[in-house]
Amino acid sequence: MPSLSLRIDLDPDGRVGPGKIALLEQIEATGSISAAARAVGMSYKRAWDLVEESNRIFGKPLVSTQAGGRRGGGAELTAAGSAVVRRYRAIEEAAGKAAARHIEALQAEIDGACPAMAAGSSLVLAVDSYIFDGYDRNEFAATIQRGRRPLAYSYMPGFGNDFETECLPGALPQGMNSPQRPAYGLYAEQLSGSPFTAPRGTNERSWLYRIRPSVKHHGRFSAASYPHWKSAPNPDDHDLPLGQLRWNPVPMPAEPTDFIAGMRTVTTAGDVFGQAGMAAHVYVANTDMVDDHFFNADGEMLVVPQVGGLRFVTEMGVMEVAPGEVCLLPRGLTFKVELMDDQARGYVCENYGAKFTLPDRGPIGANCLANPRDFKTPVAWFEDKETPCRLTVKWCGGFHITEIDHSPLDVVAWHGNYAPFKYDLSTFSPVGAILFDHPDPSIFTVLTAPSGEEGTANIDFVIFPPRWLVAENTFRPPWYHRNIMSEFMGLIHGKYDAKEEGFVPGGMSLHNMMLAHGPDADGFEKASRADLKPVKLDNTMAFMFETRFPQLLTRFAAELDTLQDNYIDCWSGLKKRFNGTPEGDWS
Ligand SMILES: [Fe+2]
Repeated sequence: MPSLSLRIDLDPDGRVGPGKIALLEQIEATGSISAAARAVGMSYKRAWDLVEESNRIFGKPLVSTQAGGRRGGGAELTAAGSAVVRRYRAIEEAAGKAAARHIEALQAEIDGACPAMAAGSSLVLAVDSYIFDGYDRNEFAATIQRGRRPLAYSYMPGFGNDFETECLPGALPQGMNSPQRPAYGLYAEQLSGSPFTAPRGTNERSWLYRIRPSVKHHGRFSAASYPHWKSAPNPDDHDLPLGQLRWNPVPMPAEPTDFIAGMRTVTTAGDVFGQAGMAAHVYVANTDMVDDHFFNADGEMLVVPQVGGLRFVTEMGVMEVAPGEVCLLPRGLTFKVELMDDQARGYVCENYGAKFTLPDRGPIGANCLANPRDFKTPVAWFEDKETPCRLTVKWCGGFHITEIDHSPLDVVAWHGNYAPFKYDLSTFSPVGAILFDHPDPSIFTVLTAPSGEEGTANIDFVIFPPRWLVAENTFRPPWYHRNIMSEFMGLIHGKYDAKEEGFVPGGMSLHNMMLAHGPDADGFEKASRADLKPVKLDNTMAFMFETRFPQLLTRFAAELDTLQDNYIDCWSGLKKRFNGTPEGDWS
């Protein structure tokens, strides 16, 4: 059934549309911005930004929040907020009645003809619909206005589900994968993310129904160069001695730089040819990929934005990912990246090995940590765009570019379990100590990429989220330790409890295989003398890429101006407390 979607452009500026109104209604229903955000399928940050924008547009609060700030407390609509919602719905109803006859006539035009999109048209969304067993369609579709290109998007919940989604009605074959003539003249194509014969639990593939098969998205390749993007093994030529290392943020570029050109490899581990190990990158970007597209045959990419949101326009759908969210781009998926802000910076884990999956919970049981329903996979989206485009491929550490005369983002419908997804880190439900001591940091594992050896991850993606510290008679920060695994850490925002100074948002640290580390001298002093009442660690989000392999530093990272020469000194103030008495010397 056709429907009218209304956006009101207000004077002098600002607009109100279905996205904001749906969010306000959910805030009214749930009394919580975070619950409302989940209900309408947007990130918490995005919801908060929309609330703030709404308050600004009307010059008075539409939403009032109670004590607890951005991350806590409740929220409710003010009288003005309720009035705006009621008024918008009244306008919508009146407009719908007035336009009903014309809308029906418009639909009749579509029903009577093939709704193929005009050749050469720019970015356009067709009918946004999808089918998903057991799931009521998420009606929310926000309209994003960036430049002159409207874009609607929505997501399907679940981790590794067998999804179905189509942009045009009937584009997705039912009951079979490869009809003799797929609807709309589309080509059927399978994208295999695992060997055909992989066990059922790890067997991943999707069927894509596209305007042209992918063989038409490759011409002859020629070599391309991305000198800062390295692959393992990369024993780079530098003379930095072994040590614990920490950096301030990688500087933003002065020249136009897109997401791919802005990739700066910090470490590599394992071997890309043997499909084991990883690379840790930082990306910096200030321009969109417009007619440039990319796929990585070497590994999947876990992207962790730190500054600026990113819009991943992929062949299987569109994902908007803000700082505080992460996303995963499967090996072989074609995509381009647009910036949602003026500039962007973040971290990428390029996983050469087995795919990231959810860790087993063991005695924790069926809930907590990262819950499957909080992973969001985009619905199908395509463009029928016949303009000169480029596709760059990363393959066994090298880069290859090919020119084509159309967009490769032409998948009209797809089904399967091999697909991109995003995840809001604020939905991670932490589990921790409730009496004394604390568990190993593996308790905060969001995703794990297994190796062939049980319990020995190729990579663990671990976060250190806001949480309560309540343990009695306990040194609460992370303990001192040496680790056979190698730890690359980054900070998305706030402070990290073991290092309150020196580890700054956008910065990074590397504690390599068997190199000792732990809280700095100030952190030790503070934690050793703290009054152990319950304390909430708030406004913080650090993460770790932890791998079984030693991480080799790149020359870029070794020579980066932001490398902190004095990092080792953060432990120099640790005193000898042993004086032969059971009490020790705490003077
Ligand atoms: Fe550690």
